Amino acid sequence: MTITYLLLIVAIMLATGIVLLNMLEKHYLSAEEENLERTGRLAAESIITYLRDDADPVLLSSVAENISRQINARVIIVSPDNLVLGDSVRIGGLSGTKIERPEIYTALKEGKGSSIQYSRISEQWVLQVSVPVREEDGTPLGVVFLASSLNPVYATLMAVQRFLLIFTILALLFAGGLVVLFSHRLTEPIKKLTSAAQQMAEGKLDQNIPVTSGDEIGRLAQQFNIMASRIKETNQRLTRFVADVSHELRTPLASIHLCLQSIKEYEMKPEEQREFLDDIYHETQRLIYLVEDLLELTRRQEVAERVEIFPLKDLLTDVLDAIQLRVARKELKLFTEIDEELPLLNISPEALKRVLFNLLDNAIKYTPQGGWLKLIATSDENYLRVTVQDTGCGIPEEAIPYIFERFYRVDKARSRYLGGTGLGLSICKEIIEHYGGEIGLEESREDKGSTFYFILPVDNSIQELRSELEMLESPEPA
Ligand SMILES: Nc1ncnc2c1ncn2[C@@H]1O[C@H](COP(=O)(O)OP(=O)(O)O)[C@@H](O)[C@H]1O
Ligand SMILES: [Mg+2]
Repeated sequence: MTITYLLLIVAIMLATGIVLLNMLEKHYLSAEEENLERTGRLAAESIITYLRDDADPVLLSSVAENISRQINARVIIVSPDNLVLGDSVRIGGLSGTKIERPEIYTALKEGKGSSIQYSRISEQWVLQVSVPVREEDGTPLGVVFLASSLNPVYATLMAVQRFLLIFTILALLFAGGLVVLFSHRLTEPIKKLTSAAQQMAEGKLDQNIPVTSGDEIGRLAQQFNIMASRIKETNQRLTRFVADVSHELRTPLASIHLCLQSIKEYEMKPEEQREFLDDIYHETQRLIYLVEDLLELTRRQEVAERVEIFPLKDLLTDVLDAIQLRVARKELKLFTEIDEELPLLNISPEALKRVLFNLLDNAIKYTPQGGWLKLIATSDENYLRVTVQDTGCGIPEEAIPYIFERFYRVDKARSRYLGGTGLGLSICKEIIEHYGGEIGLEESREDKGSTFYFILPVDNSIQELRSELEMLESPEPA
């Protein structure tokens, strides 16, 4: 890039220089020529009377010398038959000789002659202009011939050329310096980004590069930092998750191992053995729940993506039917307060069922025999709100902030005993938040019970499908 810029500058300066010098040369030459011509014509007018009478060479030479002094040019007066009548160079001049010059013919023929020639004698370029001396009727009386050195013109042009050269070199140095500075400023942050990306690829996730500017590169650096911190965070979460899972798996596996070891190594009665086998059975059951919940966690995104439009009421009925047996077995009372008109939903019914099951499962699990639970479902035009209330053990205040975290259980032993994994509420939270909703603990008092709720936004654009769906579902009247 640097070289390209510098070459560009040289090319532009060169082109400008050539054009400028050419223009200047033309300008100076034509000015000089005009000057000579004007002087020539004035001279021609003033010597017309001398030429009419037989001209005196001494007189004409002194006239020529006078003019020559004024304009710093050699002046020669020639008769129509090429005889030099007067020359501003007195000593060694051409007076009395004949000269053959094409300018003299052109002057007589066309009214003016001019040429530029290199004089080998004086070693310089010379501008020659000739103008005729004529009677009013056009009879030629002679020609005034002026020759002026172009040395001053070319000296000026040389000076301009030198100036341009110096200017070009200065511009090159300045531009070169600027380009080096800019390219350094441009490439430095990119180099930093590259090396940080490389470090990340090598597993060093703790990367943070300084953001030094607000331009595109600065924004890139900013985004890079955000990305790096997200990757680091995700990595940490993953590590923690794997550690948690391993920990959860280890406890039941360790007790299964112990039971098996006892059965293998000790002589025991069949009923004792049976107790151990019961323990093993429970532990494997717990492992199955855990693995199921883990699978649910990993499959969650996929399940949540399978959306369809369905009426909420039917889904609630299904869920309530499914838990009926467990409620009855624990001698709990189940109340429902479900609005007549509930909105159509456009989410995954499987995912929503999962949320409801988890909340109701907790309510049943953590409510002692004889208690009651209540499912409330209401809606307005913007939100659906579902509440699950129980009269169970409640949640101590200090535990409330953590209950939606993975593997968190207030009473580990009790949850384990009841077949809990500590994943239920975190699965609920992820599902509800995926659909832009909100889930939380509305109220909880220790030993009095707890109330969980979730709200989901209602998509109003699909509500008009309700009548169509109802028509499809209601059987044809006979
Ligand atoms: N209805 C409830 N009553 C009392 N405690 C609850 C209730 N729901 C959840 N919890 C507490 O929150 C913890 C996390 O719940 P959850 O994620 O569903 O795990 P678990 O597998 O233990 O049910 C439970 O272990 C329990 O301590
Ligand atoms: Mg649970």
